[in-house]
Amino acid sequence: MTSPSGPLSSRRTVLRGAALAGAAGLGATACTGGKETPKAPVTPTAPVDLGAPEEVPVGGARLYREERLLVSRSAQGEFKAFSAVCTHAGCVMTKVQSGEASCPCHGSKFDVNTGKVLRGPADAPLPDVPVKVAGGKLIAGPDA
Ligand code: FES
Repeated sequence: MTSPSGPLSSRRTVLRGAALAGAAGLGATACTGGKETPKAPVTPTAPVDLGAPEEVPVGGARLYREERLLVSRSAQGEFKAFSAVCTHAGCVMTKVQSGEASCPCHGSKFDVNTGKVLRGPADAPLPDVPVKVAGGKLIAGPDA
């Protein structure tokens, strides 16, 4: 295996691979078990730096697919974060539009401000993730 882009690219590839493996594992577990409940953690186990808070539009939301997080920002500027892992069978959301996050696998939709299910087959809300702004950066995860 070769990596033409250097150490940073290699690290990203490893992290992406781990994230995909995790999502695939969730899906496999859910699909074979009959009951569609993710078994692995779907929220960060350590604080995650999401970069500039301004990247989340006021009154809107942004997906951080590699980090498997969804962050919304109220009209007053308050941030909320959720796992972007679908509670149906573990796919990661691919789209945010008109206040809804959409799952590409079976069409579930979630409210970006509350995490609640707007359309199934998912029947559980997206798990909350603590989030804060510190040092000019958006930080999500434990201790945030
Ligand atoms: S994994 Fe089935 S709707 Fe998301």
